[in-house]
Amino acid sequence: MQELYEMSLSLHKFFVWVVFGLSVLHLVLSQVGSGMGYVKRIRLLLPLYYACLAAVLITGAVILPVLKFELSYSVIIMIIAFIAMIGIGAMGYKKLKRAYFRQEIQEYKKKIRVLIGINLALILVASFV
Ligand code: HEM
Repeated sequence: MQELYEMSLSLHKFFVWVVFGLSVLHLVLSQVGSGMGYVKRIRLLLPLYYACLAAVLITGAVILPVLKFELSYSVIIMIIAFIAMIGIGAMGYKKLKRAYFRQEIQEYKKKIRVLIGINLALILVASFV
């Protein structure tokens, strides 16, 4: 049980930092370029981002039974942050599609900056509270 806990926790933390790194990459990619290549780069990054976010959920969910489902204050914050991050991702993608069809990439860049900023803040809050 102890090994399962330690391994899952290490993987959980690893994927949290990968998600953080991919969010920073998303921020950088969303601020440079425009046109079809711009949308393509972001659309290539997103599946990787969601796969790693899913890994955070799965590894977190493996630890919970080891802790006998005793939800601490910090784990509740993590779960809320996770749900908020899914919502933010959906909002960002909707904005990307709308910006591409309406050719409003410059406005999108401003909006996605704020959304990714909130995303990064959520990861930090969930990690350090
Ligand atoms: C925004 C997403 C998340 C972030 C940034 C995050 C971050 C972290 C970090 C940094 C730790 C290590 C804490 C420590 O060593 O003191 C941790 C532990 C843990 N996380 Fe998450 N987590 C997230 C999502 C989740 C989710 C969705 C679940 C549950 C399904 C979860 C369940 C847990 C559990 C059970 C622990 C172990 C707590 C303990 O040992 O007392 N996490 N998380």
